[in-house]
Amino acid sequence: MDRNLALEFVRITEAAAIASARWMGRGNKEAADQAAVDAMRRAFDSVDINGTVVIGEGERDEAPMLFIGEKVGRAPDWSPSVDIALDPLEGTNLCAKGAPGALAVIAIAQRGHFLHAPDTYMQKIAVGPATKGLVDLDATPEENVRAVAASLNKDVEDVTVVIMERERHLEIIERCRSIGARIQLITDGDVSACLATAMPDSGIDLFLGVGGSPEGVISAAALKCLGGDFQGRLRFRNPDEVKRAKRMGIDDPDRRYSLEELAKGDVMFCATGVTTGAMLRGVRFMQHHRASSHSVVMRSKSGTVRMIEALHRLDRKPLV
Ligand code: FBP
Repeated sequence: MDRNLALEFVRITEAAAIASARWMGRGNKEAADQAAVDAMRRAFDSVDINGTVVIGEGERDEAPMLFIGEKVGRAPDWSPSVDIALDPLEGTNLCAKGAPGALAVIAIAQRGHFLHAPDTYMQKIAVGPATKGLVDLDATPEENVRAVAASLNKDVEDVTVVIMERERHLEIIERCRSIGARIQLITDGDVSACLATAMPDSGIDLFLGVGGSPEGVISAAALKCLGGDFQGRLRFRNPDEVKRAKRMGIDDPDRRYSLEELAKGDVMFCATGVTTGAMLRGVRFMQHHRASSHSVVMRSKSGTVRMIEALHRLDRKPLV
């Protein structure tokens, strides 16, 4: 994949982030999400790729735009064929409440290189580069926390685990607390939390728990670029979801996926902050119709992590 593509993609996440940031704190997550979807869809039309959405807003019958299977990009003959995993607004509630950690994200891989994950749940574990290969999705929370502490040369009491605040996680929370680990409970936004595990100064060492499966594939792509680790297993809510997964080519519903199986080969990842989180500042609207954005663009091949700050003139290039 052409490395210059990565810089094209950042325009797309910037557009989605600015559009949804207009809805920050207005208590309307659907409108915020719609604004991000519309802006992202429009922005794709100016990029020279032959793209297929493989992780998107939903199945064709339930999502009018950026649905799974939708073709995006201008697709001139010479353009690369790529698969795209996207979430125009990851953390819709966070944006609606003005809470930290909402992002606009896109991950790109060669055709067939992302797991075509159905829209269900995924059990996840994520860590940074120092702990790569040392944790196990099927180990106990205590074993994983101890492995993280050893790899980082920290006391268990100084390890910080991020867990989504959900009833389904009460046991994990209890078990981490029982050995003295610190816990940061988040209400939403596990992509941002997974990313934070790979940033040494985020203060976050481990992500554990069950979240959305599309977000799992996107997090795997991001951690691949950052040199971290991620493992996941789909968690279905009902037999219909299992059938749907089979139709999408998933024969073993209990399979454990490694990072490489979720996001194969060379991948790119782009995210722009909507609200300020562990890695990215949120969009700020300034005087004279200007807005600033903060994005990260990464490639797994080179390992380059490029932070991009942009100043947008909304009077010259309006959102709508
Ligand atoms: P949305 O952006 O679709 O609202 O998802 C936010 C999110 O918190 C994800 O980060 C997470 O993976 C998922 O929802 C968890 O789902 P649930 O709220 O059903 O536990």
